Amino acid sequence: HDLSRANTLGLPCRAEHFAAPAAIEPLRRLLRLASEQAWPLTLLGGGSNLILPAHLPGLVLQPALRHWWLESRGDSVLVHVGAGVEWHPLVMALAGRGLWGTENLALIPGHCGAAPIQNIGAYGVELGEVIEAVHVLFIEDGSSAVLTPEACAFGYRDSIFKRELEGRVVITGLSLRLSREAAPRLAYGDLARRVGANPSPLEVAQAVCAIRREKLPDPVELGNAGSFFKNPIVSRDQALELLEDCPDMPHFDVGDGQIKLAAGWLIERCGLKGWREGHFGVHSRQALVLVHFGGGDAGELLLFADHVAESVQARFGVTLEREPRLAIESP
Ligand code: EPU
Repeated sequence: HDLSRANTLGLPCRAEHFAAPAAIEPLRRLLRLASEQAWPLTLLGGGSNLILPAHLPGLVLQPALRHWWLESRGDSVLVHVGAGVEWHPLVMALAGRGLWGTENLALIPGHCGAAPIQNIGAYGVELGEVIEAVHVLFIEDGSSAVLTPEACAFGYRDSIFKRELEGRVVITGLSLRLSREAAPRLAYGDLARRVGANPSPLEVAQAVCAIRREKLPDPVELGNAGSFFKNPIVSRDQALELLEDCPDMPHFDVGDGQIKLAAGWLIERCGLKGWREGHFGVHSRQALVLVHFGGGDAGELLLFADHVAESVQARFGVTLEREPRLAIESP
């Protein structure tokens, strides 16, 4: 099964077996089958935060549970969403209904089921803030569980699904808590200047879309996985030292004596914005995004990314951590 169109980086990939179950019972049967056959298992959402190898042995499962519904709870509204629902159209539908909570997360590609894994975040909001519950199936025995947001241990581009539960569960759905009460979050960047007074959630979502379209390449036109690195968090001492040399360096206090730096700025300062070598490049409008011009593969991408990270390490002494996840390489 060809997966080169199922990942937004557009990397060539063939899976030995592929299934997109649209309900829980078929999903459970496929998990049993994979276990009986001793097939390695790879879970796929929208493929927008994943680096795929040329060959994936075993079974690739893409949950295709595509239902969603609303449940009124006083001033709040709970939204129950299947893992296979596409995130961005859902955000626009919710914003269009006047519901607040996810509008800053507009235009993030991918499926809802993948969203909690890296705790998607943008323009001052993270998914973890609106999660009421994450519904999972345990791969080992097919049992289901409902995790609270505390149990998910959300952090910056981080959650329990990247740690203790990595490889152990399939996320089957989310419950989000949204509000009918106006609650615009406009503190990030120039978002406030892009909307009128008393904006609707739809207006905020549309402003976020406009900002993203100015900077971020559309994966349909140019392969990419959004930010390729996390914004590094360094000690206050290290940040102060760097600021002596570069007083204009963007930095953000995240508490506990820790400062978050802008990886895109660091990469740009290394002179790498717009740099291209072989089939990959650093995006010309946002240096944190690596782009695939076509014809390359995962190995070449990882070498290219190493070069970018090594340049930042050499120039600033700051370590960049990769953001998209690596699917298991064939044994
Ligand atoms: N900057 C540069 N040069 C660049 C890119 C950025 O100087 O090439 C500077 C900007 O001028 C700004 C700062 O870096 O001062 C931050 O830039 P921006 O607001 O564009 O955001 P980011 O830190 O580069 C993060 C997220 C994005 C998210 C935006 C908006 C991470 C790894 N990335 O990017 O998320 O959309 O903030 O909230 O945290 C993603 O994860 O795939 C993603 C796109």
